[in-house]
Amino acid sequence: MDMASSRHVLLRLLVSALVLALFVLPAQADVKRYQFDIVMSNVSRLCHEKTMVTVNGSYPGPTIYAREGDRVIVNVTNHVKYNMTIHWHGLKQRRNGWADGPAYVTQCPIQSGASYAYDFNVTGQRGTLWWHAHIAWLRATVHGAIVILPDRGVPYPFPKPDAEAEIILGEWWHADVEAVEKQGRTLGMAPNTSDAHTINGKPGPLSPCSEKHTYALQVQWGKTYLLRIINAAVNDELFFSIAGHTMMVVEIDATYTKPFVSSTIQLSPGQTTNVLVRADQRPGRYFMAVKPFNDVQVPVDNKTATAILQYAGVPTSVIPALPQLMPATNSTGYVTAFHDRLRSLNSARYPADVPRTVDRHLLYTIGLNIDPCETCLNGSRLAASLNNITFVMPRVALLQAHYGGARGVFTADFPDRPPARFNYTGVPLTAGLGTSLGTRLSKIAYNSTVELVLQDTNLLSVESHPFHLHGHNFFVVGRGVGNFDPSKDPAKYNLVDPPERNTVGVPAGGWTAIRFRADNPGVWFLHCHLEVHTSWGLKMAFLMEDGNGPGESVLPPPKDLPKC
Ligand code: C2O
Repeated sequence: MDMASSRHVLLRLLVSALVLALFVLPAQADVKRYQFDIVMSNVSRLCHEKTMVTVNGSYPGPTIYAREGDRVIVNVTNHVKYNMTIHWHGLKQRRNGWADGPAYVTQCPIQSGASYAYDFNVTGQRGTLWWHAHIAWLRATVHGAIVILPDRGVPYPFPKPDAEAEIILGEWWHADVEAVEKQGRTLGMAPNTSDAHTINGKPGPLSPCSEKHTYALQVQWGKTYLLRIINAAVNDELFFSIAGHTMMVVEIDATYTKPFVSSTIQLSPGQTTNVLVRADQRPGRYFMAVKPFNDVQVPVDNKTATAILQYAGVPTSVIPALPQLMPATNSTGYVTAFHDRLRSLNSARYPADVPRTVDRHLLYTIGLNIDPCETCLNGSRLAASLNNITFVMPRVALLQAHYGGARGVFTADFPDRPPARFNYTGVPLTAGLGTSLGTRLSKIAYNSTVELVLQDTNLLSVESHPFHLHGHNFFVVGRGVGNFDPSKDPAKYNLVDPPERNTVGVPAGGWTAIRFRADNPGVWFLHCHLEVHTSWGLKMAFLMEDGNGPGESVLPPPKDLPKC
């Protein structure tokens, strides 16, 4: 090759590299980087000031914005005295449990002074999810939104909104939440209920000292807004309404739904709902309101939080009206009807891939129990169990133990069925069924289809429980009151367009049936998303086995994975 032609080859290489850089690289996924500093911050609400744990000093914390297909790297640096982990609620984290975040399930906590980079891909998901601390009760103040936009050039399957806003619902305690949890544990009783509900961290003008603590959404007449609503409350299931306006539900838990109109939506801790709202009423100021849903006799924070839908040009001296038609706090009927309207979009582009056949049938009973406790107030403490097992957190992370083949950390013998059949939802039982403590996992073969029926019981009391599965979405194929009947109820399942989600409410004194495919190897947490119940042991974990093919096993752990 002479000089001229080798130069020619070089030039051509250079040109093609440039073309590659210009046209190929931008089409590839972006890397979105965030720095989360866990710090103590002074925050005041309702005439009280307290020092609490936040991310980067903000409450709620920063929103993570990504696009479907992106890689996201969030470096978390812990500057507080508490151990910390962050969970990316609803992200599937395929083969990558290392980035999932529940303490002692997938990782050891990030200790004071240490950092850990959560590094994950957002594959095949778009919509609203959220992130939160996943250790003790720290998620009360450490949480924020995750907004995943559709891939470039891919429209929403609903009319394009003129603007979007995140609406994060939360709970505020005057006291330190770790102290609230600890007090409940030491006494063996239910911890104190919260002092207020919040909308984007603010209780609103119906609460004292709230002049500065009101969230207002500015709207222009005639425009349509996409609200990304997140229930980040610790223990309360919630209703959300906007005075004078209806909402069109278009997405739940980052999956598109068949659109329907509702004046109130209900969402439980862990769940998200996207709605379209058109600012088409008489220009004014309208309250958005949040209040609890609670249909049993357990104590709940019954305060209403408000925020303002503010039409452009309307003076702030105008006093807003409250929603007229919010359901009663104990309105089981409203919630049942609302959930019956939820359907997957199930379009050609977004099909509902519902497992038609089931390889593994599971039935888990949800129970409350009273365990002996010498140091507690009444000599006993409240606890909770699944199939009569109160889950005990290990001292090292389950995923690490599984991946490294460590013995003695857990057993893989969680029972597929409750030890004894009884009239689950009959007359109140006194919790004498013989519960036991254990770190027991259920082993599921790779790619098998699973049906899990979560059955509430009347042990001590029936109660509604939002259950969250990590690492997967599932289809809610059935739901009912009373005892699940395996001979009759499956005939009524919706296997065509059931709602697809990551968190589902089990009705008080009823059951919910979910189906999913175990196509994500790793250790995945299943728990009630009411933190009070999670701390009582209402949780377990699945050990989803590796497959044999390439891309069917747990990825190697990152180098900076925290040590216990
Ligand atoms: Cu949103 Cu295991 O949590």
